[in-house]
Amino acid sequence: MSLDEKVCLVTGAATGIGEAIAERLAALGATVCLADIDGAKAGAVAERIGGHAWTADVSCSADVQRFVDEAAGRFGRIDAIVNNAGIAVGGTVADTTEEDWQRVLATNLTGVWLGMKYALPHLRRTTGCIVNMASVQALVGLPGWAAYAATKGAIIALTQQAAVEYGPEGIRVNCLAPGTIMTPMNERIFASASDPDALIESWNSSHALGRFGQPGEVATAAAFLVSDDASFITGTCLRVDGGLTILGPTGRAD
Ligand SMILES: NC(=O)c1ccc[n+]([C@@H]2O[C@H](COP(=O)([O-])OP(=O)(O)OC[C@H]3O[C@@H](n4cnc5c(N)ncnc54)[C@H](O)[C@@H]3O)[C@@H](O)[C@H]2O)c1
Repeated sequence: MSLDEKVCLVTGAATGIGEAIAERLAALGATVCLADIDGAKAGAVAERIGGHAWTADVSCSADVQRFVDEAAGRFGRIDAIVNNAGIAVGGTVADTTEEDWQRVLATNLTGVWLGMKYALPHLRRTTGCIVNMASVQALVGLPGWAAYAATKGAIIALTQQAAVEYGPEGIRVNCLAPGTIMTPMNERIFASASDPDALIESWNSSHALGRFGQPGEVATAAAFLVSDDASFITGTCLRVDGGLTILGPTGRAD
């Protein structure tokens, strides 16, 4: 698989899954443009992998437009955008504050929509593609993540919507649904748990493979969807979840 000659944009690329995706795309030969609200960190990653960094808040229309247009202007084209940036804020349906609800929607959902909206004029010139970051939490209920789950479910719907709108032009739009991946996002959740070891054990055992995933295991799936090897795949939600969504009750009969 080669991404030579392709210009690929990745949001939320300063750490975690986005960093791993940027690294993987660069290793496959792509020119990678990284955007993150933490521009300094994105700059350090860009330097390490040979990419190019922007400071951008994906919930801010002007930031996203500037990132996309400047990247296209500098490199002459855009072949793919990976809308990965997201935040995890806990809370049940009743407990979630209106402020948290709006914050999560703005980053996770509006951010994905803005990335698609402003990249599409460029992607239509190259017959490019889009990969959005959903989550297993779009597919199964995990108590206490109302706003987060709502945004991830909407990302699957929005991905399908874009896939049918731009499919006739050859533009492919897919999303990924990772299970638990060890990134700073989850390290923060574990650090604030009353019993981190018990939480880690319970999350490990909720995957059929009995363990978390690593960012690189999502990055290889993202690279596949970006590549021409996925030329007949569009509108899909690819689970990269170690079997989390197919695991039933784990009590054994024997
Ligand atoms: N880690 C998991 O278990 C997991 C599982 C399923 C889905 N996901 C999704 O994968 C994506 C990446 O998650 P992660 O675990 O790597 O998170 P992370 O917190 O480790 O990294 C997220 C990155 O996004 C950046 N970011 C946050 N808000 C931003 C904004 N408004 N504009 C631009 N950049 C912003 C952060 O600075 C950070 O660099 C998210 O969409 C998340 O919902 C993660």
